[in-house]
Amino acid sequence: MAARSCLHLLITLAVAAAAATGVLQAGRAQPDSNGFISIDCGLSGTASYVDNATKLSYSPDAAFTDAGTNNNISPEYLLPSGSRVFDNVRSFPGAAAPRSCYTLRSLVPGLKYLVRASFKYGNYDGLRRLPVFDLYVGVNFWTTVNITDAAVAQGLEAIVVVPGDSLQVCLVNTGGGTPFISGLDVRPLKNSLYPQANETQGLDLVARMNFGPADTYIRYPDDPHDRAWKPWIDPMIYAEITTTKMVQSVEEDVYEAPSAVMQTAITPHNASGSIQLRWEVKPNTNYPSPGCMFIMHFSELQLLQENTIRTFNISINNKIIGNITPDYLYADASLNNEPLRGSIQYNITLHATANSTMPPIINALEVFSIISTTTVPTNAKDVSAITTIKKQYEVKENWMGDPCVPKTMAWDWLTCGYAVSSPPTITGVNLSYNNLTGSIPEALSLLSSLTVLDLSGNQLSGSIPSELLKRAQDKSLQLRYENNPGLCINGTCPSPEGDPKLAIYISVPVVAVTVILVFVLFCLLRRKKKGSVNNTVNPHNELITHSYGSDSYGHGSMQLENRRFTYKDLQKITNNFEQVLGKGGFGYVYYGILEEGSQVAVKLRSQSSNQGVKEFLGEAQILTRIHHKNLVSMIGYCMDGDYMALVYEYMSEGTLEEHIAGRDHNKRNLTWIERLRIAHESAQGLEYLHKGCSPPLIHRDVKATNILLNLKLEAKIADFGLSKAFNRDSDTHVSASILAGTPGYIDPEYHATMMPTAKSDVYGFGVVLLELVTGKNPILRTPEPISLIHWVQQRLQCGNIEGVVDTRMHGVYDINSVWKVAEIALKCTAQASTQRPTMTDVVVQLQECLDLEYGHASSVPELSIDHVSKTRTILEMDHLERVPLPTMSSAGR
Ligand SMILES: *[C@@H]1O[C@H](CO)[C@@H](O)[C@H](O)[C@H]1NC(C)=O
Ligand SMILES: *[C@@H]1O[C@H](CO)[C@@H](O)[C@H](O)[C@H]1NC(C)=O
Ligand SMILES: *[C@@H]1O[C@H](CO)[C@@H](O)[C@H](O)[C@H]1NC(C)=O
Ligand SMILES: *[C@@H]1O[C@H](CO)[C@@H](O)[C@H](O)[C@H]1NC(C)=O
Ligand SMILES: *[C@@H]1O[C@H](CO)[C@@H](O)[C@H](O)[C@H]1NC(C)=O
Ligand SMILES: *[C@@H]1O[C@H](CO)[C@@H](O)[C@H](O)[C@H]1NC(C)=O
Ligand SMILES: *[C@@H]1O[C@H](CO)[C@@H](O)[C@H](O)[C@H]1NC(C)=O
Ligand SMILES: *[C@@H]1O[C@H](CO)[C@@H](O)[C@H](O)[C@H]1NC(C)=O
Ligand SMILES: *[C@@H]1O[C@H](CO)[C@@H](O)[C@H](O)[C@H]1NC(C)=O
Repeated sequence: MAARSCLHLLITLAVAAAAATGVLQAGRAQPDSNGFISIDCGLSGTASYVDNATKLSYSPDAAFTDAGTNNNISPEYLLPSGSRVFDNVRSFPGAAAPRSCYTLRSLVPGLKYLVRASFKYGNYDGLRRLPVFDLYVGVNFWTTVNITDAAVAQGLEAIVVVPGDSLQVCLVNTGGGTPFISGLDVRPLKNSLYPQANETQGLDLVARMNFGPADTYIRYPDDPHDRAWKPWIDPMIYAEITTTKMVQSVEEDVYEAPSAVMQTAITPHNASGSIQLRWEVKPNTNYPSPGCMFIMHFSELQLLQENTIRTFNISINNKIIGNITPDYLYADASLNNEPLRGSIQYNITLHATANSTMPPIINALEVFSIISTTTVPTNAKDVSAITTIKKQYEVKENWMGDPCVPKTMAWDWLTCGYAVSSPPTITGVNLSYNNLTGSIPEALSLLSSLTVLDLSGNQLSGSIPSELLKRAQDKSLQLRYENNPGLCINGTCPSPEGDPKLAIYISVPVVAVTVILVFVLFCLLRRKKKGSVNNTVNPHNELITHSYGSDSYGHGSMQLENRRFTYKDLQKITNNFEQVLGKGGFGYVYYGILEEGSQVAVKLRSQSSNQGVKEFLGEAQILTRIHHKNLVSMIGYCMDGDYMALVYEYMSEGTLEEHIAGRDHNKRNLTWIERLRIAHESAQGLEYLHKGCSPPLIHRDVKATNILLNLKLEAKIADFGLSKAFNRDSDTHVSASILAGTPGYIDPEYHATMMPTAKSDVYGFGVVLLELVTGKNPILRTPEPISLIHWVQQRLQCGNIEGVVDTRMHGVYDINSVWKVAEIALKCTAQASTQRPTMTDVVVQLQECLDLEYGHASSVPELSIDHVSKTRTILEMDHLERVPLPTMSSAGR
């Protein structure tokens, strides 16, 4: 008790202090004196207001999230007497992040909380498209939000034990339209309540019914826990029973149904009738067989005469779960002790037993499905360090929610270590070529599991935190920071101006040539000469420089600054070449695991062939030089006697070609939005080759088998064995003596001239785009071989886009965005290379398609006025009549 009032005092003090310093936002982000957090999402300004029904104070949401935009719902959906929470929403459009989160702070670790998210679409975006998206509580999947009526407000509720002092609630765009939210409530519960919710499982509310004649939802203050109890009665079948007397809780009541709810009940008009309730629980991809809990609340409300008795048995799907004789004015609950699974429909029957003289009654019912909360979030210290870094660099991208969990939503540019027995940790941070400015944050040194840090190619200034340098020197950290002209190295700081060239031109006439400028010039010269400045500190190996003499590929010497493996190492990593991932041009690719646990792909040059040495060297050379999030990255290499191998990051989802062909039946079909993202990402990889690296490169073998996908379905370009450097100034071609490439993807102009250009890659990419749209191979056998390009052209000339679209997408796409991609693809595959766009144009146009998809909820049906069945609690009274409960049925009907 004392501890509690101290906490209360502290909170009050914090609010007072915040108010005094004018930081009202921060003050509002705290729970109120009940420990409640009540947020009106999308409310603009900083003022909170008091809700009419509950008298609870609702705050705007700006202090809880840094994503999304505020919107008012359409005026025709406003309800003057309804809750204000539903008048505005926060929506999360935009392609950068599928996940958007609210962070709820100052919670009590280990305490049980009720979290309620509410939604009313109200055509806030004027698009009349009803979205479907996923909701996460912390790092665990909570439920799918399926908006089926623009006018209906729904409240989704979870009861969970919160492990830390904060909790995130995240909305995830799954391609079904832009997520939005109207309100968010957090209410603390005693840990003894709802014993089914513990550290490893939570409860997702399916329904909470208050039977009887109430005409309004019961919430706070009638229910001190602010649960929302929905009134229900079918007066044709049921009579109402009410009392004004207080209904007491029994001792050790673990559900605490409030007296206001227990004071009303229903009973069949027909004295020999039974009560029958039917419930449907919809499975979803995360819970194909959800476990269901039915908690029924009973209290006798009539003072029964002597030798009158009310006893009834309770059965669910014809299986008896118990007999009950409700006590007068005492609340009791019955439930199925083990969660019920394997059924979609549950029939609950309350049937009077033979010796009973009264029909059954029921006062209230709660239906929950079980959700698993076993996913462990990232190490808390790492989360706090990376959050500081996020703030300093104002990283937007997908830096939302937990950094490493779920794996499919891990933050870009981070590598995470997933151990079995401890929480995930951040092991790598790659912020290279990100236009970062300012100093290197000290917080990076708080990432205690960090083994790779790449800050190269930014405009960072100041010095490197000493802790990081120390770790780099003792080789526990691989630190890269080249191409940061403003960075102080060993206490030598260049001029503060950002652009080194500018610094030279301006400073030279003014100041004498200083040591700094000499240093900068030196860097620039070195860069010109070798293509990169080399100041890597490698944890495992000394910097290795190998020369292979001059080769026809233009580069005299080859620098490998990656890890070097022996053949024996490879045997160990791959468990003696146990698992073959695929076969490439010069040998097999094997699966491997490094000592620290990261997964790799090992491409081993077949010993028997002399083929491929050049390609091997060419690829190794390129991969050591270029780094981009959409190019597969090399971790190391092996040159051990006759053995040659390249070790890459592991791309668990294989090639794009496998996904398109659909050979692996375990792999589901790609959705349109996934295809679009893959197209956009691989286009960025190619654009980087053409424009971003120096000297620029032509890939020369762009095809679906050379686009790899990782666990998050992120696309990366692979196989640079045929890639060639070209001179940006003297046009864009290189000469080669043999025709390279793959049938179906070969640029006809290149075929004629034998001069590959960057536009040859554009051509190949165009074919890949067509494959994504159609799901077909580049060469169709119909039965005469015909190129996919011609096949699509023929159909599009007649305006028949549906005729070319992959039927495995089941019509779930925005037709405009498919048209646009097909058009881009046909432009890319124009006969004359001059008519083809550049990869930069392609990236821009694909981005527009993505914006189109994220902006519109393309895959959901147009808003219809028909009512659809609901199994969810509906929070606004005004719609109660309009939305009956079709899933509940009764005896005698
Ligand atoms: C809230 O209640 C007050 C007083 O009863 C009333 O004047 C006001 O219109 C109500 N507001 C809403 C939004 O219902
Ligand atoms: C959303 O609800 C509608 C109507 O109940 C249903 O037809 C549709 O399949 C649901 N969508 C998802 C993704 O669950
Ligand atoms: C939570 O409850 C479930 C079901 O009763 C049980 O299997 C599990 O072990 C419990 N977890 C903890 C941490 O107590
Ligand atoms: C009451 O229920 C019994 C048993 O279900 C049935 O036989 C009887 O016809 C019902 N009476 C009325 C008036 O509906
Ligand atoms: C529930 O009852 C309905 C109608 O009485 C019946 O059609 C259905 O099969 C029952 N479902 C189960 C799972 O028993
Ligand atoms: C409930 O009790 C009644 C009366 O004794 C009996 O007829 C009925 O079969 C029981 N229900 C079940 C599911 O056993
Ligand atoms: C009525 O019958 C049920 C079984 O049908 C039994 O459990 C209960 O004790 C009986 N009640 C009385 C008061 O006899
Ligand atoms: C970095 O800045 C340059 C110039 O402002 C811009 O062209 C480039 O797109 C930026 N790169 C990234 C990755 O933001
Ligand atoms: C920095 O100084 C140390 C010790 O003087 C030296 O070993 C190291 O090579 C220097 N590093 C760079 C990048 O110049």
